[in-house]
Amino acid sequence: MSYTNILSEEKNGITTITVNRPNKLNALNKETIKELHDAFKEANKDKNVKVIIVTGSGDKAFVAGADISEFAEFSIEKGSKLAAKGQKLLFDYIENLSKPVIAAVNGFALGGGLELAMACHFRIASDNAKMGLPEVSLGVIPGYGGTQRLPNLVGKGRAMEMIMTAGMINADQALSYGLVNHVTTQEALMSFCESIALKISRNSSVAISAAIKAINAYNIDGVNGYKVEINEFGNCFGTDDFIEGTTAFLQKRKANFPGK
Ligand code: COA
Repeated sequence: MSYTNILSEEKNGITTITVNRPNKLNALNKETIKELHDAFKEANKDKNVKVIIVTGSGDKAFVAGADISEFAEFSIEKGSKLAAKGQKLLFDYIENLSKPVIAAVNGFALGGGLELAMACHFRIASDNAKMGLPEVSLGVIPGYGGTQRLPNLVGKGRAMEMIMTAGMINADQALSYGLVNHVTTQEALMSFCESIALKISRNSSVAISAAIKAINAYNIDGVNGYKVEINEFGNCFGTDDFIEGTTAFLQKRKANFPGK
């Protein structure tokens, strides 16, 4: 599939999706959100792909937010629709994807950019990265899940402060908040992400998607995560990956998972 605003490349079972609007600091306009949805869908369907990495092009920004020029004239109704559609098409979609998604945060991750990173399963940042939800400085609030995912990741008090001040935190602060898992130099960022992706890709992809479902059930109102875990745990026993994993262990060899 060919895209205008993003790049998508598969190598060694890892698909790297790059938001490619460097002149606009990779801001997310409507078309980019749709293309990202399509690229994630494509990678999720592709049997060769085990892990997806999302990053921004250039050395300045991951994604500097939703494209402000697109919603400057919006009404109440259009604003609600923008958030609802974006959440469904991209942010919730990524969070619930059955394949692991890593955000390689290579610079500014602001507003919708940080929300995109937070929708991924985990985040790795370069040491020049700056993260924040500056929406209240524009007279709006985060609309792509930021008010929900940020407190889940960093705690309510820190989320309140970040959102109310509209300020940015640097990579080391993000690391100490638990917002990102690792910080590397900008040069090392992609190879570091790829090395973690390779490590993940050696494990059972079926078990990994079950783990994503169970972990995503954590801390959601009205959902009993322990029950989801029991159900997903039980299902694993009916998979070829489970047979291969346990057989390989007993035969003292490395597992070669069929992925079903
Ligand atoms: N939406 C639309 N365009 C954006 C954008 C966004 N979220 N973020 C950056 N851009 C555009 C700028 O308008 C500029 O375009 P131009 O050259 O056509 O004027 C270009 O990207 C470069 O940005 P610029 O502001 O000149 O870079 P900078 O280094 O001076 O500042 C930022 C970098 C990230 C601090 C600044 O761009 C910024 O504050 N962006 C908006 C962040 C934001 O509020 N995001 C949340 C949106 S809800």
